[in-house]
Amino acid sequence: MPDALETLTATAPETTRPIARLTRKRVFSGIQPSGSFHLGNYLGAIRNWVDQQGDYDNVFCIVDLHALTLPTTRETLRSNIIGLANTLLAAGLDPAQSIIFIQSDVQEHAELSWLLSSTTQFGELRRMTQFKDKAAGSEEVSAALFIYPVLMAADILLYDTDLVPVGEDQKQHLELTRDVATRFNARYGETFVLPEPDIKPAGARIMSLEDPLKKMSKSDANPNAAIALTDTPDVIRRKIRRAVTDSGTEIVATPDKPALTNLLTIYSLLSGESIPDLEERYAGKGYGAFKSDLADVVVEAVAPIQTRLAELNADPEIAREILAEGAERARVRAAAKMAQVRDRMGLGLG
Ligand code: TYM
Repeated sequence: MPDALETLTATAPETTRPIARLTRKRVFSGIQPSGSFHLGNYLGAIRNWVDQQGDYDNVFCIVDLHALTLPTTRETLRSNIIGLANTLLAAGLDPAQSIIFIQSDVQEHAELSWLLSSTTQFGELRRMTQFKDKAAGSEEVSAALFIYPVLMAADILLYDTDLVPVGEDQKQHLELTRDVATRFNARYGETFVLPEPDIKPAGARIMSLEDPLKKMSKSDANPNAAIALTDTPDVIRRKIRRAVTDSGTEIVATPDKPALTNLLTIYSLLSGESIPDLEERYAGKGYGAFKSDLADVVVEAVAPIQTRLAELNADPEIAREILAEGAERARVRAAAKMAQVRDRMGLGLG
């Protein structure tokens, strides 16, 4: 398809964009405003959103309704939402190429979630490993945490999504989304597109710096487990210096060395050098030199993002405007899809 046509369709109003559907695949992904944005989020998901945004018709969502599944406060949620919006923009999401919006600004997400809960099995939700992990050890487990994957399915299915770029931990939720859509289509007629996960071979599961068998996570109680994108150079250097390593002295990415595999993966993704090249460079060298170079690579990679973030934080109106415009555009698509879904299901009088 000629570029000119793509440009034309990309700038046309939402309702007159049928050609865009034929020329570009639709991407949807989301991220929770629940704590600090870390290197795992960046390398597993957001960097890929940014790198690929020119190739697709993109919708990216700050999923504040999902953040209600664990205890939070009004003030924390508000400040996390604007902080995350600024971080996504600082990392390179471009409102000229992507719709960026807040989930609760488009009410169809909550509505579709309820409708899809009728085509989701209780047993399917009970098998979700992320629910089991998050519920474990928690005294109060909300019903929202249990039903969370249905809301995620609604997010995706509302936009006729073809591709969902995520980290490895979301794979099971994507499988559920496909199962729910398949069941809905069989019961009510072809309505939803079946989305494909877009999980990259490298970086899809960045591990904790303190325990390489656990993923790097926003909710880790140990602050040294994750590198936040807002960490200062000193903090980054300290966290990498104290990151656990494996037994032995070799710097190689092998299955018996999960900690070094993780550090080499981070190094490779941020520097663009291949893991075999790095293994060769550090052969016979100690962990000290390797970690010091890795810290430099991380500090250098996050510096430009931090500079842009400081500028955006100083002027929150920029993000507010982008999010308001994004919600308007998302609403048009969501409303059209919901009208079709309500009709298929026989709700109301038609
Ligand atoms: P969330 O907010 O936990 O994470 C956002 C993205 O970051 C990825 N990620 C990681 N990737 C690699 N290594 C890690 N250690 C790591 N930790 C997190 C996640 O896989 C994700 O891609 N349920 C989702 C949000 C969501 C969503 C959606 C995603 C809601 N609706 C629809 C896609 C489509 C979540 O909690 O992501």
